[in-house]
Amino acid sequence: MVEANNTTVTLQVHRFTPRPERAERARGGSPFAKKSSPFGGGSDSAARRRPRGKQWVQEYTIPARPSDTVLDCLLTIKRTIDPTLAFRYSCGHGMCGSDAAAINGTPTLLCTATVRDWAKQPSTAPEVDDEGFRRTGDETANEPDVPAENNITEGSLGVIELASLPGFPPQRDLIADIDPMLNQIRKLTPYLQADGVLATTAEGKVDVFEYLQNPEQLAKYETLSNCIACGVCEGACPVYAGGDAFVGPAALIWASRFINDSRDTKAMDRMDAIDAADGVAGCQSVRACSRHCPRGIDVGEEMWQIVAKVRER
Ligand code: SF4
Ligand code: FES
Repeated sequence: MVEANNTTVTLQVHRFTPRPERAERARGGSPFAKKSSPFGGGSDSAARRRPRGKQWVQEYTIPARPSDTVLDCLLTIKRTIDPTLAFRYSCGHGMCGSDAAAINGTPTLLCTATVRDWAKQPSTAPEVDDEGFRRTGDETANEPDVPAENNITEGSLGVIELASLPGFPPQRDLIADIDPMLNQIRKLTPYLQADGVLATTAEGKVDVFEYLQNPEQLAKYETLSNCIACGVCEGACPVYAGGDAFVGPAALIWASRFINDSRDTKAMDRMDAIDAADGVAGCQSVRACSRHCPRGIDVGEEMWQIVAKVRER
């Protein structure tokens, strides 16, 4: 079907501009500023969670087709309406993880979310279910009776609400500061630590340059190795929220990826590192982390597996 381009979508963007002095501090402008911990958290983490600045909601109505992605819409706004709107992206097709944000309250990637799937017709009254509970954006985001119709050729496709990734301090508009997550992943040494001994022939010559694995050994961690550290699972996790009390599902996925790798010799050390109150013990098995992993990792199930493995060791 050829889609006519006389349809529109409205983006309601939760915008944020930090106070200039905060931006100055973040650049290390003050010689008296405290240095942040290399592992995240630390004395400045509370300040990170409470960025000060101007917050407001800005509405943009632009021409759009149902198949356009939310990132397409933001680029249209940036190029034609408002160059001050800030968001982050790189690959544009779900491979780099740099554009995670909250769409209608749900953490996901801007570049893979389409107007068709996420635009909602605005309602005049809050939606209330049969038992009188107000419904959340997560529940209503993909309902078949409210999203943009595929065959609409004119008029509004609906409204999409955008905010920066929950669980992380906003830096500007839709850009969240994901350094806490990256530091927590780094802390768990996210690289292969093999024994470093190369196989040799009977004559003592180097025989192979690779650590060989069979398909079964590869299958134990292959899916986990697809993690792109986008932070969507952390944004969905109600326990993570800043990462001081819980290292977060993304860091545990990276730890699990190497614990399950037959070539790695540090599995016990890795399990010791996450066997802490803010490690696997912090996971409350809510499983919200599994719902929107763009790489198809069943994060909640993997959390369950790594918790069991640490306890059984
Ligand atoms: S596990 Fe999935 S949702 Fe979580 S950081 Fe990795 S790719 Fe993103
Ligand atoms: S821009 Fe790379 S994952 Fe969306």
